[in-house]
Amino acid sequence: MNTFEKETIDRISKNKNNENLLNATRAFLSESLLSKYSYNFKALGRPIIQYPQDIVAMQEIIWKVKPDLIIETGIAHGGSLIMNASMLALLDMCEAIESGTVLDPKKSKRKVLGVDIDIRQHNREAIESHPMSSRIHMIQGSSIAPEMIVQVKSISKNYQRVLVCLDSNHTHDHVLAELEAYAPLTSVDSYCVVFDTIIEDMPKAMFTDRSWGPGNNPKTAVWKYLKKHPEFEIDKNIDNKLLISAVLSGYLKRVS
Ligand SMILES: C[S@@+](CC[C@H](N)C(=O)[O-])C[C@H]1O[C@@H](n2cnc3c(N)ncnc32)[C@H](O)[C@@H]1O
Repeated sequence: MNTFEKETIDRISKNKNNENLLNATRAFLSESLLSKYSYNFKALGRPIIQYPQDIVAMQEIIWKVKPDLIIETGIAHGGSLIMNASMLALLDMCEAIESGTVLDPKKSKRKVLGVDIDIRQHNREAIESHPMSSRIHMIQGSSIAPEMIVQVKSISKNYQRVLVCLDSNHTHDHVLAELEAYAPLTSVDSYCVVFDTIIEDMPKAMFTDRSWGPGNNPKTAVWKYLKKHPEFEIDKNIDNKLLISAVLSGYLKRVS
């Protein structure tokens, strides 16, 4: 490990004890949720409903894990599908450069598999006409419906390195059912990323029009799941680095 890397690790570990920084982060998170800050970004032209810090964290994870399949529940406008597909394209490009071969994008095995209960026609058309579309496969239905789980499991059998992202219905029961169904597909040393754990830390009044809220959300599902699944650990290093994130305690690393 070089000096810069050692200094980075040191800086990150100090964040968790930096009360001024943590208070500023908490204030930003609650204000930015009220202003729907995370709805304002795009990935290669498609809206992506995420904090930029979490997009960077995904970039770092994808570079480290080098997955050949990314399973995503919750497509919405397709920004996260396109973002992740573009990262897979870059992995292919880097491998082609390193091995001195010619890259044929149509032959890439790497894929993003998206599941959504309601893929709106205009979103489908925009995703299917995007230059990244050859790496994207979408299926419509509830992510916890048995027939959908069967399809996803069957597709994932053809892949070796699998990364899972859960970002659909944010109730405790739904996310727990998704974790039971899809977390086991995560390869060792890869991640199951559970989005919107932030709901647990926000005031109840913020979610009066939603079926989720504090006490009933992705973070409570993660806590329950982890009690019986020591093969996953929360990657606290990512949390301490990002600080501003909707996914704190949701970056689950498969360790065995
Ligand atoms: C927060 S958005 C996804 C955002 C997207 N991942 C992104 O980063 O831009 C949630 C999506 O979950 C979908 N959804 C809701 N309930 C679902 C379910 N039971 N199964 C699958 N998808 C569901 C909604 O249709 C919506 O498109």
